[in-house]
Amino acid sequence: MAAVYSAADTHLKQLAYQHILTVEQFTPEVLESLFGLAQRMDRQVETGHTEPLLANRVIANAFYEPSTRTDLSFQSATQRLGGRVISTAGGVQYSSVTKGESLHDTIKTIDCYADAIVLRHPTRGSAREAAEAADALRMSLHRPTPIINAGDGTGEHPTQALLDLYTIKDRFGANIDGLTIGFLGDLRNGRTVHSLIKLLAIDHCHVKVVCIAPESLSMPSEYVEFARSREMPVEETQDLQEAIGGLDVLYVTRVQRERFVAQEMDDLSAKVYGMPVDALDAQRKDALRPLAEQNAAQEYLAARDTYVVDPMMLSQARKNMILLHPLPRVNAIPEEVDTDDRAYYFRQVQNGLYIRMALLASVLDCLR
Ligand code: NCD
Repeated sequence: MAAVYSAADTHLKQLAYQHILTVEQFTPEVLESLFGLAQRMDRQVETGHTEPLLANRVIANAFYEPSTRTDLSFQSATQRLGGRVISTAGGVQYSSVTKGESLHDTIKTIDCYADAIVLRHPTRGSAREAAEAADALRMSLHRPTPIINAGDGTGEHPTQALLDLYTIKDRFGANIDGLTIGFLGDLRNGRTVHSLIKLLAIDHCHVKVVCIAPESLSMPSEYVEFARSREMPVEETQDLQEAIGGLDVLYVTRVQRERFVAQEMDDLSAKVYGMPVDALDAQRKDALRPLAEQNAAQEYLAARDTYVVDPMMLSQARKNMILLHPLPRVNAIPEEVDTDDRAYYFRQVQNGLYIRMALLASVLDCLR
């Protein structure tokens, strides 16, 4: 069996023992090598001959938010490469987090047991905070433990963006210049599209991005500016019907219900007290919560069904367009669409396994 590691992959050495916090850490060269390795992982999984690159390694999955694909694909990736996964039985809600333990202490503890930590957390910036905790411990234990950001609130989801870009290239070829890529749905809160728009710009893809969202859920300007500053054109519209015929990729996202209350709390706090919600005492926060919850529920209901990509809508799309979704889809794509050749989201799920195998082997410096 040919070794999974190729001499051309020296770029992957750059990932050894690095925290993976944002797509901004990647370069086009590293991406090319990583995608090549993921392709080889795909072939090895297909033929049932994976190499035990992660033998004797233990990966900890610390998920403070629900997950199906990210959690299980990291578990599957680890085990297919001969490593083992630990997590608190029953999830983080059964760990000392519920007793009030800080993220710093939880991470330092897990760090003592694992070679890498895959972290999902509801707070933007939490992965970076966890990396700081791990680095503080590195000083005393002399043992680096990479943190892999598996989604930090409304911030980023770098490993999802890696598998998304890999999937686009898997379908259209390594050179995707000239493609038009539409992002649809809750672009304000969806961390997957925040990472993907940046990754496309970082990879110097000469693509055009069309952001399709209601005004209240539009792509935050920091991401639009990031892309434009790297000469990637970004258009914004609310009209899917008008945009769909010009797209090569339509990337649909779920309306992120769980983010609406926090956003409402922020808005109300600014309006009523003129300060950010984090600066309020517990009593003032409690006073704002019922109205925030009521407003959030109304806002969610209004936004939920704005866009539905059903067969009628797809009849206006190109025959070779692909439809992507990080999943769960809830109600933006009805199940009847699954049999359409353009439905590519389960291929995307499968690619998540190969990308995470490639990433773990690189980050744990197991490529020989
Ligand atoms: C996404 C996430 O958690 O950000 N899911 C995933 O990881 N595949 C998308 C979502 O929850 O809507």
